[in-house]
Amino acid sequence: MRTSILKKIRAVDTAKNTYLEDVLHGLGRKQKSLPSKYFYDDAGVKLFDEICRLDEYYLYHTELRMLPQISQELSQMISGELDVIEFGAGSLIKIRLLLEHLNGVRHYMPIDIAGNYLRKATSQLRDELNDIKVTPIEADFTNTIKLPDCDDDITRMGFFPGSTIGNFSPTQSAFLLEKFRKSLGGNSWLLVGVDTKKSPSILHRAYNDGAGITAMFNKNLLLRINRELDGTFDIDQFAHYAFYNIQEGRIEMHLVSLTDQKVSVSGVRFSFQRGESIHTENSYKYSPEEFSKLAEFAGWRIKRQWQDENQLFSHHLLYAGL
Ligand code: AVJ
Repeated sequence: MRTSILKKIRAVDTAKNTYLEDVLHGLGRKQKSLPSKYFYDDAGVKLFDEICRLDEYYLYHTELRMLPQISQELSQMISGELDVIEFGAGSLIKIRLLLEHLNGVRHYMPIDIAGNYLRKATSQLRDELNDIKVTPIEADFTNTIKLPDCDDDITRMGFFPGSTIGNFSPTQSAFLLEKFRKSLGGNSWLLVGVDTKKSPSILHRAYNDGAGITAMFNKNLLLRINRELDGTFDIDQFAHYAFYNIQEGRIEMHLVSLTDQKVSVSGVRFSFQRGESIHTENSYKYSPEEFSKLAEFAGWRIKRQWQDENQLFSHHLLYAGL
């Protein structure tokens, strides 16, 4: 019974799987894994917002500090009417700083997988921006999304902040950047926020905070399976483990089983040995040169790059035209 279900699930195209299929597929692999996009249910979004308030998590506050200056420079490079599309928009804090100096923005379209949260954040933003049309789009941006209200006379700018791109492998990232280029069209721009390579101790602290919020964020992945997929995970029997893998240039997050145990998800049973892990996230880090190569490979031209004074975080302005 169990093997036939799993066999069927392995045969499904992973691009269009449901939550249950993705979870059963991931837990059925030799190195167990779960897709990191499932972190972001209501509880997960709240925990991620808490992570962003931690001193150790330099990614968020460094990026925020850079945005006013960047938006000022953008306003000098981009003229005319502009539509802004944000991939993985989260709590809509960053866009406020970006729109601060940009003129001519007609329509802002935030895309996020966490629909409830997105709609709440959007209604607040609407009250603040009376001239700009705001259309929230609840979607997984790795799928092909047909943008509403297309007008080829209006310049489009994509905004992909927060080093969300780090969740994808370099190959997947190149495909994603190419996909964004095709959906944004000919004369479009893309501003990408990317975490840099740096001292492993700084990286390590960012993903192993003293208050244990990142550990809770990681374990919420199992709690969500319990809530939504009739799972039986005992989260006290799993440990948060995050480390910097130098060869791969990425932080890896895992949940390590503290004991030999069996867990079921929607009636499908999985065994864990003591010390065995579920790989829950990759966060790739890039030097500016490495990221340039990736973007160029995806058909973009690099127009500008920014780093903060401590080189903790970078922004890359890409252009799809000549
Ligand atoms: C939202 C994907 C950019 O990888 O740093 C934070 C998620 N994971 N702490 C990241 C995360 C652990 C975050 N991204």
